[in-house]
Formats: sequence, C-alpha cells, structure tokens
Amino acid sequence: MEKTVAVLHGDGIGKEVMHSALKVLRSIGRRFDHTFKVKTGLIGGVAIDEVGDPLPRETIELCEKCDAILLGAVGGPKWDQNPSHLRPEKGLLAIRKHFELFANLRPVKAVPGMVEASPLKEHLVRQVDMMIVRELTGGLYFGEPKRKTDNDAVDTLTYTRKEIERIVEKAFGLARIRKGKVTSVDKANVLESSKLWREVVEEKKVKYPDVELEHILVDAAAMKLITQPSSFDVVVTENLFGDILSDEASVITGSLGMLPSASIRSDGFGLYEPVHGSAPDIAGLNIANPSAAILSVAMMLKYSFGMETEAVAVEEAVYSVYKDGYCTNDVKKDGYRVLTTTEFTEKVMEEL
Ligand code: NAI
Ligand code: MG
Repeated sequence: MEKTVAVLHGDGIGKEVMHSALKVLRSIGRRFDHTFKVKTGLIGGVAIDEVGDPLPRETIELCEKCDAILLGAVGGPKWDQNPSHLRPEKGLLAIRKHFELFANLRPVKAVPGMVEASPLKEHLVRQVDMMIVRELTGGLYFGEPKRKTDNDAVDTLTYTRKEIERIVEKAFGLARIRKGKVTSVDKANVLESSKLWREVVEEKKVKYPDVELEHILVDAAAMKLITQPSSFDVVVTENLFGDILSDEASVITGSLGMLPSASIRSDGFGLYEPVHGSAPDIAGLNIANPSAAILSVAMMLKYSFGMETEAVAVEEAVYSVYKDGYCTNDVKKDGYRVLTTTEFTEKVMEEL
C-alpha cells in the first residue's frame, strides 16, 4: 500500500520524538512492503517564528493532500507572552477544528514491566486496558455566547443530537472490537446537555445488543478511575469531562511519555500525536521518551490505514524493549538500563 503522511514536528521535544516515530514508520514500510511518503509542514511556535502564524494556510493545504497527520508537540516559554492568536497552542485547536476531528481516542494500558512506575498500587494497575473517547469539537470550549466583562463571564455548553450520535457510535464500534463494554460519563442529574447525551446513548445502544452499557456521573467516574481502573473498557464523554478525566487516567499507567492519542473523524482521516507537550525542560537533551510518539504511529496504522497487523507489530516492539529491561529517564527504576531517545528508538527498530 502507498500512503502519504503529513508530518508536523512542532516545538521542543516534538522534533526529537517525531524523528523516532518516522524511523519506526520507515521500518514498518520495509518489513511489510508499504510505501510511506512524508510531507513536512509547520505548526506551533516554529510556524510563528518563520511565517507569523501558528497554523499557516500552506500547512492546512498540505494536510488536505495527505492520508493522515502525525504531530509532535507545540509550545514553549518563548511564546508564552504572545497575544492569544500568536500562541502555538492556537495552531493545535485550529487544526482539530478545521478537519472536524471530533473523536479523541486515548488508550491507557498497563505496560508489562512498567506498572511499578504508576503512582497507584501495582495490583490495581496490572489489568488496566481502557480507551477514553472524548468529544473534541463541541461543548463548552466552542459554545456561544462566550463573553467576559469585568463583572461577569459566560461560557455556553451546547450539544446537538448529531454531535452526540457520532461520538457515541464511535464508542460502541470500538467496544465491539475490544472488551465489549461502554461507560458513558455525564452529569445527567444536573445538566440538560447531559440528559440529551444519556437519551442518545440509550437510543444507540439498541443497535449494539452485544455491548454492555453503564452510565456513570462524572464525579463518581473520577473516583472509580483511581479505585477500580481495570473495570473500564471504552469510556465515552463530552469535551470538558473528557479533558479532565483523560489527564487523570493518563497517570494511572506511569509516565506521560508513554501515551499516544488519535483525533479522528468518520471517514478515517485523523491526526496522531503524543499526549505530552513540548517538554521545554528536557528539550534538546536527547532524553525524551519516544514511546508515545511511536505508539501514535501504531494508532495511525490501525485507525487511518486499516493496518492492524502492522500496528500490533509496533506496539509489541515497544513493549518488548521495556520487557528486556530498558527504559528512558522518565520511567527509570531499579534494574533497568536508562537509554537516550536515539538508543531507545534503535532498540525498537531491532525488535521490529
Ligand atoms: P509537558 O507534557 O510538555 O511536560 C510535563 C512534564 O513531563 C515535564 O517535566 C516533561 O519533561 C515531562 N515529559 C513530557 N513528555 C515527556 C517525554 N516524552 N519523555 C520524558 N518526559 C516527558 O507539559 P507542560 O510542561 O505543561 O507544557 C510544556 C509546553 O507544551 C507548554 O507550552 C504547553 O502549552 C505545551 N503543551 C502542548 C501539548 C501539545 O502539543 N499537544 C500538550 C500539552 C502541553
Ligand atoms: Mg488537557
């Protein structure tokens, strides 16, 4: 197969981990006889510096011609004082909105040999394997009116039936090919938007008799993520709840440096990026953990290219490096050998 990937390195360690991700992509191409063409574009701080726009028109056009987007990370202290339209993060919000990437998927999985890096007790974490499905283009972050004066401020939480339907469909579809359970998180005891959310979930459930469904209020969900994380399979929720819960869930299995994500739309087009940011504190030191970026490649292979076997090969390769007793600085522990970003990447390639 031949696929073209838009590659947006971004800032800080984004460049470093993307380098690793592309090496792995190329080795998958060699092993499985695919051609992956790469087109690079600017986003974030580097785009502000070079062309004065965090998401230049040329970048959008480039992405439109590709089959998927791989992104490193954006941001850094250099641009923190910029006015809001010249913030690197603006580029990220704009690209998600432009391509209507409404479904944000974040898998949280205990990596064999790495569960000790979790702040939770090992027995709670060992079986964790969940997928958070966050609605990404609606809700409080985009609702109108939105206003602030000196004396009052307004944000609006709206959801249309159509917006809820498409994200819920995605969740049920994923549950069917995973462990067969959907947990829908809302605040239906208080919020009207959550009442509609719950109604739509119930309606969609009829089409998926084989999938188990539970509804849980967001406050209870926050507790249960910590007390019984392995009880979840697919967790589906609206934008704000998903933002908070996915960060909470991300620490269950250890380091940010190990978590990939996908933001996709119905036709399979998607943007793949590590959950972590540009990590200015370690940028340029060649010590960043490239696992999240490499596992984002695995998600791209699976969700945008339908290359399931290839995706599993990438995942297994990363896990094997940990199993063999290697790690990076962020997850270092007794008995493990700490590798640099490039050394870790080489190990993954050897496994492949
Ligand atoms: P961050 O994720 O960049 O870093 C948080 C901490 O985790 C730091 O100590 C960092 O060294 C460590 N860390 C992160 N990724 C790592 C990796 N792969 N390997 C080893 N250690 C890793 O979040 P922070 O510090 O809050 O934000 C830094 C900049 O990144 C800000 O400008 C922020 O706006 C931006 N950011 C961008 C995101 C994106 O591009 N999607 C997401 C989050 C933050
Ligand atoms: Mg967040």
